[in-house]
Amino acid sequence: MAEASLQHRRDLALGSGAELFYDAPLEIVRGEGVYLYDRDGRCYVDMYNNVPCVGHANPAVVQAMAEQQATINVHSRYLHEGIVTFAERLAGLHHDGIESVVFSCSGTEANEVAIQMARIVTGHRGLICTDAAYHGNSELVDSLTCVGRAARETSEVRGFPFPECYRPLEEGLSEEELCEAYLARVAAAIESLKTEGAGFAALVMCPIFANEGLPDIPSGFMSRVTDLVHREGGLVIADEVQSGYARTGLWWGYENTGFRPDIIVTGKPMGNGLPLAATAASRNFVDGFRAATDYFNTFSSSPLQAAVGMAVLDEIERLDLLKNVAEVGGRLTGELEARVDLHDAIGDVRSCGLFIGIEMIKHGDNKEPDATLASDLSNRLKDKGFLVSYAGKFNNVLKIRPPLVFSHENADEFLGAFDECMREISA
Ligand SMILES: Cc1ncc(COP(=O)(O)O)c(C=O)c1O
Repeated sequence: MAEASLQHRRDLALGSGAELFYDAPLEIVRGEGVYLYDRDGRCYVDMYNNVPCVGHANPAVVQAMAEQQATINVHSRYLHEGIVTFAERLAGLHHDGIESVVFSCSGTEANEVAIQMARIVTGHRGLICTDAAYHGNSELVDSLTCVGRAARETSEVRGFPFPECYRPLEEGLSEEELCEAYLARVAAAIESLKTEGAGFAALVMCPIFANEGLPDIPSGFMSRVTDLVHREGGLVIADEVQSGYARTGLWWGYENTGFRPDIIVTGKPMGNGLPLAATAASRNFVDGFRAATDYFNTFSSSPLQAAVGMAVLDEIERLDLLKNVAEVGGRLTGELEARVDLHDAIGDVRSCGLFIGIEMIKHGDNKEPDATLASDLSNRLKDKGFLVSYAGKFNNVLKIRPPLVFSHENADEFLGAFDECMREISA
């Protein structure tokens, strides 16, 4: 009953309706590496949280945080070597057109900065994004959430169907024709913004369409949509909040899906839990943004953010996490793909490094999404000690996105539990 009373107090203190995972919510009190522990000492393998990318309570990050806080932490209106070095290092990890950085505290803020920057640079206001996107929760950024559904399209935002091969826009097309069909929808969205007066500033997209359900993107779409956007006078904003920081086995999702964005937004994993986000672009674009806005953000661009951000990058390199992600993610994906033919309920397995989506569908029914089963599986896996969730346009894609330190042993243990769950649901 202790849990129930904490949940009740939470409803009163935080307002009822603040989301909780799982039918019987967890009270997590400690974390270490990929493991989370509840109040009774039960251990769970965290296969969901991408924020603690170098592991929960990573000692090097904790030490950097404590030392910096014990030395100096102050707002950004002073010179500080650490902040400049961190910005230089971050920009240096991107393609050579990315030179400067605006720091902030959340993915939402970093997307706000990116959108403002694109509007300043282009002189236009119109934005396009997919019809199942999520890029943040401010009024502006939330206007990009699931555009086209629930009457969300505004005069400055247009949605287009996210590109995918699994449930294609039209059946019977070759991959090339399918790519053309999606590009035509993007072109129509841009045209509509232009004819209705907003003009066209930017396409905002996650390089792997993580929130859309990690679709199989028709070959060539990402580079061709980038060319289309540029031809139409707009900019491409890559929202790397989920796909960045080694998640795909490469530093950036855009390297994985093959395009060159103009503005890049990063967040979640950057501070391993410390609020830290960034908008990176060419020096010209960032200078233009600074000149037009006088942007200031009390807690961002601070010595603390820089020290922690540097420690996270150091740990990704020291632990060789790009390699770990590629190897463990690749093998786990292969193992899961081998299960597609064994279970009618698994429609598809898609992945980029240590980001894996398992498409749950109704038995016998051709590709009909099964959100109830995805939810049921996530609860069963939790009971066996593995924490996952689900996402996608239909909430039916089991979402596996562990800290980057997730190991082959963790993967093997998970597969055992997954097989047990699949046996249980088909019994
Ligand atoms: C792709 C993407 N962009 C932006 C955000 C917003 O980030 P934050 O919650 O830090 O504002 C999210 C959050 O889930 C996200 O998934």
